[in-house]
Amino acid sequence: MIELESITKTYLLGKENVNVLNNISLKIEQGEFVAIMGPSGSGKSTLMNMIGCLDKPTSGNYTLSGENVSHYSENELARVRNQSIGFVFQQFHLLPRLSALKNVELPMIYAGVSKVERQLRAEEALNKVGLSDRMDHLPNALSGGQKQRVAIARAIVNKPKIILADEPTGALDSKTSTAIMEQFRELNGEEGVTVIVVTHESEVAAYANRTIFVRDGMIQLPSASNRGASE
Ligand SMILES: Nc1ncnc2c1ncn2[C@@H]1O[C@H](COP(=O)(O)OP(=O)(O)O)[C@@H](O)[C@H]1O
Ligand SMILES: [Mg+2]
Repeated sequence: MIELESITKTYLLGKENVNVLNNISLKIEQGEFVAIMGPSGSGKSTLMNMIGCLDKPTSGNYTLSGENVSHYSENELARVRNQSIGFVFQQFHLLPRLSALKNVELPMIYAGVSKVERQLRAEEALNKVGLSDRMDHLPNALSGGQKQRVAIARAIVNKPKIILADEPTGALDSKTSTAIMEQFRELNGEEGVTVIVVTHESEVAAYANRTIFVRDGMIQLPSASNRGASE
């Protein structure tokens, strides 16, 4: 369902071109649970932004659910994101002046869902992540783990096929991280949502069925790293 073919991303820094993604080819099937690991600055977030249609490749093709989105306009990409992808970030990205419930309603406002249905579906999503008793709280009144649960509820409320999480446990203690990863496992296992998680922690990557290693904007083949380890 996700197919990247020879994707490159180049930034112009001063007069120099910097290749952040270097000829990345990658397939991820519907229902997979994938971890992306690699050193800081290796291009993990850039790759996630590409998969999430937040950014466009400099060259190469990206096919998402059969649509070649490589040359889509900003508006078309926004539609694809809203319909197909839920995002979870390390720093939660909740709006501080809105209650948990209103934060979860936001993606449905962009999707044009009616007010009554928005509230129902936001409540349902918050129930699912175990926050039925915190719906009226502002983000400041919630713990880190609870904030991340709100973010997950917001990510799933439009029933996306894909959830992209960029270091979702990076700001959480290990017990809370486990609870958050269990939540992703449940969404993947029970609803077949494709989950892609960037992480530094092997405990987090252990939830995935497959781990992709990125280095210098390239995908490291397992054979190469195995060889490195045995030498
Ligand atoms: N908008 C940008 N303009 C220029 N360079 C960027 C931009 N975004 C990311 N980079 C550079 O691309 C490289 C990869 O960044 P990133 O994808 O955030 O890495 P990671 O998430 O693996 O830490 C870094 O060297 C970073 O400085
Ligand atoms: Mg990053």
